Amino acid sequence: MTEPGDLTAGPVGSSRERSSAAIALDDHYAAHNYSPLPVVAASAEGAWITDVEGRRYLDCLAAYSAVNFGHRNAEVIATAHAQLDTVTLVSRAFHSDRLGPFCAALADLCGKDMVLPMNSGAEAVESGIKVARKWGTDVKGVKEPNNSNIIVAHNNFHGRTTTIISFSDDETARRGFGPYTPGFRAVPFGDVDAMAAAIDENTVAVLLEPIQGEAGIIVPADDYLPRVRALCTERNVLMIADEIQAGLARTGRTFACDHWGVVPDVYLLGKALGGGVVALSAVVANRDVLGVLHPGEHGSTFGGNPLAAAIGTTVVSMLQRGEYQARSAELGERLHARLRGLVGHGVLAVRGMGLWAGVDVDPRIGTGKLVSLRLAARGVLVKDTHGSTLRFAPPIVITEEEIDWAVDQFAAVLTDALASRTTATV
Ligand SMILES: Cc1ncc(COP(=O)(O)O)c(C=O)c1O
Repeated sequence: MTEPGDLTAGPVGSSRERSSAAIALDDHYAAHNYSPLPVVAASAEGAWITDVEGRRYLDCLAAYSAVNFGHRNAEVIATAHAQLDTVTLVSRAFHSDRLGPFCAALADLCGKDMVLPMNSGAEAVESGIKVARKWGTDVKGVKEPNNSNIIVAHNNFHGRTTTIISFSDDETARRGFGPYTPGFRAVPFGDVDAMAAAIDENTVAVLLEPIQGEAGIIVPADDYLPRVRALCTERNVLMIADEIQAGLARTGRTFACDHWGVVPDVYLLGKALGGGVVALSAVVANRDVLGVLHPGEHGSTFGGNPLAAAIGTTVVSMLQRGEYQARSAELGERLHARLRGLVGHGVLAVRGMGLWAGVDVDPRIGTGKLVSLRLAARGVLVKDTHGSTLRFAPPIVITEEEIDWAVDQFAAVLTDALASRTTATV
């Protein structure tokens, strides 16, 4: 049996020398804030990654949904090349001929008035928090602006900055990083009554992932988001949807909120917005919300740079066509049906929507990390989250045959693990 960290399967006799050297260099010089699988990517195309030894892997993580449109998507790469030959960065001290078209296109996609472009997802969340607080002060007129609060959900994941980890339940993400930013109240995800009870006159916003990704792809009950929407309207509180991982075609719709006909006041977008090429995130809202920002109150040197804006415009035009959303919905049904077929054969539960599946593996088989290692040895890359949950989120360009092949590999890993358990207990 392959041991954790001993990724020896793959073509017989294949060498691991280059991988080992690359990993050793990473280990020595790169901060150890991740625990990656021992796969060293050298190139990628579509749904496939090739490592430094020439082994190919089907990517079923898609860089946490940042590569929704496939590695090196031809339209995105063509835009990037063209923009690299013109202008890449001027900072927001000047205008560029790329920013306006990008903001107009993204605002239109979201059905909103304005866009605040940033870079990482966490920056979009931070910016959304700032905008909500300023809206509370300037528009809502909260009595104690320095004591305002934002309602969040337990088991949320919104990024890694100091403020964001301040309202995380994940002790590994928090421990040792205090003091924490005040002003957040956590209620159980799915519990509207608890949310209603937590809102008071100083509440400026509710901040939620419509489907909780890192928590294990937790899909709420059908009445949850519509009731949150109604509650936010009734209590004059902004509804902020963090669609950074769930949005932009991942679940089979442009936004996860679309599944329930819900339109939040503020969309937070990132990851796939940059087409898998650049870090591009955004806060998108109407003028009565984003209009609270004035010169000097917020910014980022790279936010909305011409290269990112050009790529973002292409990404939005791809989403306007709707084909990625349709493909994710259609292929997602196949992925879910095939994964559900493994329930009772080493899988306890399958959740999710579109090409996004959270799979609870029977913990007796091993940790999610161990199963990920065995899958990688068979040429399929997935990521574990929370103990024994695996996340399948392939680039949306994956084919039906590739989905079948990936699930076959998963089934084989489970069968092997179950067989070795039986042998061990005889
Ligand atoms: C829902 C959600 N919000 C925010 C983030 C943070 O994005 P980034 O890693 O680009 O800062 C993530 C990242 O996984 C996410 O899943």
